[in-house]
Amino acid sequence: MKRALVTGGAGLIGSHVADLLVREGWRVRILDNLEPNTHKRGRPAWINRDAEFVQGDVRDRATIENALSGTDIVFHQAAYGGYMPEMAKYVEVNSLGTAQMLEVIREKNFPIKKVIVASSQAVYSEGAGECPKHGLVFPRVRPVEQLQRGDWSVRCPICNEPTRSVPTPEQAPVGGETVYGLTKVDQEKLVLLWGKQVGIPTVALRYSCTYGPRQSIFNPYTGVIAIFCTRLLNSLPPVLYEDGEQTRDFSFVEDVARANLLAATTDVLDGLPVNVGSEKGVTVREIAQRVSDALGIRIAPEINGEFRPGEMRHLISGTDTIRAVGYVPQVDLREGLDRYLDWIRSQSDVRDYFSEAAENLRNKGIVHRVGIS
Ligand SMILES: NC(=O)c1ccc[n+]([C@@H]2O[C@H](COP(=O)([O-])OP(=O)(O)OC[C@H]3O[C@@H](n4cnc5c(N)ncnc54)[C@H](O)[C@@H]3O)[C@@H](O)[C@H]2O)c1
Ligand SMILES: [Zn+2]
Repeated sequence: MKRALVTGGAGLIGSHVADLLVREGWRVRILDNLEPNTHKRGRPAWINRDAEFVQGDVRDRATIENALSGTDIVFHQAAYGGYMPEMAKYVEVNSLGTAQMLEVIREKNFPIKKVIVASSQAVYSEGAGECPKHGLVFPRVRPVEQLQRGDWSVRCPICNEPTRSVPTPEQAPVGGETVYGLTKVDQEKLVLLWGKQVGIPTVALRYSCTYGPRQSIFNPYTGVIAIFCTRLLNSLPPVLYEDGEQTRDFSFVEDVARANLLAATTDVLDGLPVNVGSEKGVTVREIAQRVSDALGIRIAPEINGEFRPGEMRHLISGTDTIRAVGYVPQVDLREGLDRYLDWIRSQSDVRDYFSEAAENLRNKGIVHRVGIS
C-alpha cells in the first residue's frame, strides 16, 4: 500500500487530493495547521475520515519530521496564498517551510520516493504573447507607470507592439512579480534542484486558477470565483480590477487532484515544472457574468480603475506536457461552476469579507488606482 503525506490537506486542493488517494487505496496522512484566514470556523467537516489528520505547522521542524515518517510520497500543498500584505509570512511558510522539509528528509534519510510540490501559474511574469512581427514572445511584467495611465496592454519585448494572448509553455521565463509568486518560484526551484541533488524524483505542478467545492468562503484575498460569489450572495457588486478584460485559465479542483495522482504514478514528469490547466482563457468580466447568471443575482460589476501591480494581464496555461501523459480535464467551467454554486448554497452564513480586505490592500499599496502614484 502506498503511503502519502498531504500537507495542506484540509484546504481546497489538498482535501481533494486526499479524497482521491483514499479512494485509490492509499494510506493518507494530512498535515494542516488550519490557517485561520482560510478556516475561520475551525476544522472543516470534509477532512477525509479515512485519513490520519495531524494539526500542525509546516514551519515547525519536529512536526514536519513526525509527519514525514512512514511516508512514501509527499504532496506538498500547504502554502500561504493570495494577495496579502504579510511579506515575511509568505517567505516563512512557503520558502522556508519547503526548504526545511527537504532538509529534514535528507537529514533523517527518510525513504521518500517522490515529492510533488504545488506551484502556480503565478511564477510567470506575464502570459505568452503572439507578436505580428516576432511570433511567440514572452512579454515582461507591465510597468506600474503604464498601469497608472490606465493602459492595460501587453507588448512585445522586442518591438513594443501589442501582443495577442496565447498558451504559455513551461519554458516561459519565470519571474515572481508578486511576493506570493516569488515564493512559489522558490518552492518549485528548491524542490526540483534538491531532487536532482539527492536523486529523489520531484515534480512541480503549476496550477492555473483552481476553484470548486471547499474553496474558502472566508478568505477575501484569494479565489476570484469564491469572492464574486460571496459578494453577490451579499447583494454587493463584484469588483473588477483593470477593465475586467484580463483572462484567466480555470481548473476544477478534481481535475487538479487527478493531475497530482498522475504525477505520482508516472515517471515521465519527474524533474519538471508542469502546467496544469484547461488551455482556455476566460475574461474576469465573463466570470462575474457567469456567476451572476448562475446565481440569478443580477448586479453589475464595479470597475474603479483599480489594479494590482505585478498582476499579469493574460494567462492561458500551455498543457502539452501534461496532456502527453494522458491528462484531460474532465469538468468544464459550466459544470464546475454549477457544482461550486450548489456547494456554496449549502454553506450557512456566507458573509462579505472583501470590503474590509479591499480597504486594507489599498492602504498597504497592494491595490492601486489609475492616476494615483
Ligand atoms: N487555488 C488556486 O487557484 C491555486 C493556484 C495555483 C497554486 N495553488 C497552490 O495550491 C496549493 C493549495 O492551494 P489551495 O487553493 O488548496 O489553498 P487553501 O488555502 O484552500 O489550502 C491550503 C491549506 O494549507 C494550510 N496551511 C497554510 N499554511 C500552513 C502551514 N504553515 N502549515 C500547515 N498547513 C498550512 C491551510 O490551512 C489550508 O488548509 C497552495 O500551495 C497554493 O499556492 C493554488
Ligand atoms: Zn514584436
